[in-house]
Amino acid sequence: MGKWKTCYNESRKYKKEWEEQFKWLTFRGDKCYCKVCNATIKTMKTSNLDLHEKTAKHMKNSDTKPILKIQSNLGKSNKSKTEEFEIKYTVSEANVVSEDGTATSTTNPAVPGKEVLNPANIGFIGCGNMAQALLNAFIRKGLIDPSHVMASAPSDRNLTKLRSLGVKTTHDNNEVVKHSDVIFLCVKPHHLTDMIGDLNALERSHNPLFVSIITGFDIKTLEEMLTALIDYPRVIRLMPNTPSMVGQGCCVYTLGSHTPEAYNEVMNSMLSSIGLSAEIPEYQMDAACGLAGSGPAYIYAAIEALADGGVKMGLPRQLAQTLAAQMVKGAATMVLESGKHPGQLKDEVCSPGGTTIAAMHSLEKNGLRNALISAVEASALRSKELGTKK
Ligand SMILES: NC(=O)c1ccc[n+]([C@@H]2O[C@H](COP(=O)([O-])OP(=O)(O)OC[C@H]3O[C@@H](n4cnc5c(N)ncnc54)[C@H](OP(=O)(O)O)[C@@H]3O)[C@@H](O)[C@H]2O)c1
Repeated sequence: MGKWKTCYNESRKYKKEWEEQFKWLTFRGDKCYCKVCNATIKTMKTSNLDLHEKTAKHMKNSDTKPILKIQSNLGKSNKSKTEEFEIKYTVSEANVVSEDGTATSTTNPAVPGKEVLNPANIGFIGCGNMAQALLNAFIRKGLIDPSHVMASAPSDRNLTKLRSLGVKTTHDNNEVVKHSDVIFLCVKPHHLTDMIGDLNALERSHNPLFVSIITGFDIKTLEEMLTALIDYPRVIRLMPNTPSMVGQGCCVYTLGSHTPEAYNEVMNSMLSSIGLSAEIPEYQMDAACGLAGSGPAYIYAAIEALADGGVKMGLPRQLAQTLAAQMVKGAATMVLESGKHPGQLKDEVCSPGGTTIAAMHSLEKNGLRNALISAVEASALRSKELGTKK
């Protein structure tokens, strides 16, 4: 009897529980199938079943949003009893995967839904550009109920906008901490030390997850700082980017040393609903900041310059800008969907003696590649530097 058979027989013992957890799962004879796409299910590991829910075939045949049930003691103390909650999440083009785990694309629209991360209360300390990008995206995707969110900032500059979404607001960061199971730390790096210094120690029964999006501050430093509030603080370091707001974000994260593995699934489910999400080793964080965190600004500048070129050569401004943006989106989609090396795609546009190779020569002379590599390097080094200036 092979490994699968043992695993399968084991799972049959818990048939009812499995079917309860994965509504699409069914047992027929000595095999297990997906009711939605009729696929045979070969391994009963939870991670594989989660993966199956995200396959293009399953998504195509499913008219409901996939349901991910996670056992977690979110927001409770280490000793508290396990509590079950449900996350429903939408799948955007960036995060549909095939059975073998490789990325594929889909034309499935994201399925709107009102189900929320429940019963978690979410807090945001600092509510500027990045916090609003995340919060708006979570609300729009139906992951967070605004009435479960509390946000704080010193002024009303940003809070007013959040109030109009139904989010509770305050100028007192301690209120946010008290209210929340998951707390996003979204202040500028130079405000972090003072901000944490002003927080009160937590009740022993309250051990929330702190998700820091603050550039440069590593897990060890964050944990040391938060130890003033609670022993063994639960921390995730997250590097998001602003296109998360339109469901096309790049979010990478690292779990802290006291953070239960269950939070990996929680984070991944939340973030994959607003673009690409991946857990990465912490030493890659500064580089990820240089590329994906700061990157949208490089491309905005490129789109603006390309539009200027179009205008210079006679196109109306609005048309030039739309063509530039759509062209960038199209080229990025080609890279993601074709699986071809960008150099090969470039070669395919450059006909001998043609217009594009003439333009490529001009870009080489003006140092386009050098400029972009240097930009990523500069941002990554600055991220490292910000983390050392406490
Ligand atoms: N923007 C990005 O693309 C991006 C990408 C990745 C990571 N990040 C990181 O995200 C963090 C926030 O960046 P951002 O661009 O969103 O900055 P931002 O727009 O300037 O927002 C900062 C927010 O922090 C608030 N704040 C300042 N001091 C505070 C305090 N003591 N307590 C509570 N709130 C306080 C500000 O309050 P007011 O509303 O009163 O001004 C504001 O709401 C930074 O650490 C940055 O490194 C940003």
